[in-house]
Amino acid sequence: MENQKANKITIIGAGNLGSFIAYEIISRDVCKEMVLVDILKDLAEGQAMDMAQALPYKNRTKVYSGGYEDIVGSEVIVITAGKPRTPDIKDRLELATINVKIMNFILTEVKKYAPEAIIITITNPMDLINLHIHKSGWAREKVIGSGGQLDSSRFRTILGNPDNEVEGYVIGEHGAGQIPVFSKVKINGELKEFNLEEQKEIKEKLKNSSMEVIKRKGSTVFAPASNTADMVESIVRDQKRLLICSTVLKGEYNLEDVSIGVPVRLGKSGIEKVEEWELSEDELSQLRESARKLKSTYESLNN
Ligand code: APR
Repeated sequence: MENQKANKITIIGAGNLGSFIAYEIISRDVCKEMVLVDILKDLAEGQAMDMAQALPYKNRTKVYSGGYEDIVGSEVIVITAGKPRTPDIKDRLELATINVKIMNFILTEVKKYAPEAIIITITNPMDLINLHIHKSGWAREKVIGSGGQLDSSRFRTILGNPDNEVEGYVIGEHGAGQIPVFSKVKINGELKEFNLEEQKEIKEKLKNSSMEVIKRKGSTVFAPASNTADMVESIVRDQKRLLICSTVLKGEYNLEDVSIGVPVRLGKSGIEKVEEWELSEDELSQLRESARKLKSTYESLNN
């Protein structure tokens, strides 16, 4: 399975993040063709040319830019198109109205040309957009939000130093309602306990971790790109890796009709399993609260 490749992967939105995701994916040699689509046609074309020029000593992936007719046959489509966060946008939910509109346009095209594709959602507010795509007709197995794996990676960075092996996960909203799962943190294989003061301090650092990057360099790219490529690789190579992703719940954790970050297994058919972890009472109640907030924001968008 390790050398298995997708015939085609598409990135819709070839801006800062989309281009890095595309480059990370082609560097891993997981697809035969990579298509970049953006309303800014020159931008997509320039990105594709730049990437193609990086490949001769790497592998034989064919990278090109195109219109929606070129996405036919895509097995995975990563959507990053939309308005990004800027330092004045404190909460990702503020981007909902405009990015839902952009998504409606994109989904009409994707339905026409690649209705069978597995969609990975990046555009913020990612959990809401992911639910919106599901409600627009994609089976829940085939629409997966990228964010929890990234938040978990940031959590591990805060907890660890290079000499330690750190296991830590963040579930819940990809945003202010994120939940670091302190009850399952392991350092060098041993469960670690945190007092309330430590938890508060770590949560605060985690909450600010993406904005600290955006303030300094305008956007976050390496960390989300790497974590999204892990998702793509797990799907294409059917690795069934345990990853934290946003998925539409159907009764798991006693929640439904909401897309939120939980542990899942990703393989050839997309979400192959939602893992139901035993969480602490406090973590469960935070998950419920995070879901409640996402649900009410989604409902307010439609009124
Ligand atoms: N179709 C195709 N591309 C579009 C469309 C559309 N309808 N609307 C906008 N785009 C493109 C823009 O032209 C731009 O190139 O989406 C791209 C977005 O890229 P950036 O502005 O560079 O933003 P980026 O930092 O990559 O963030 C993209 O990811 O993490 C999230 O919050 C972030 O929602 C944002 C998304």
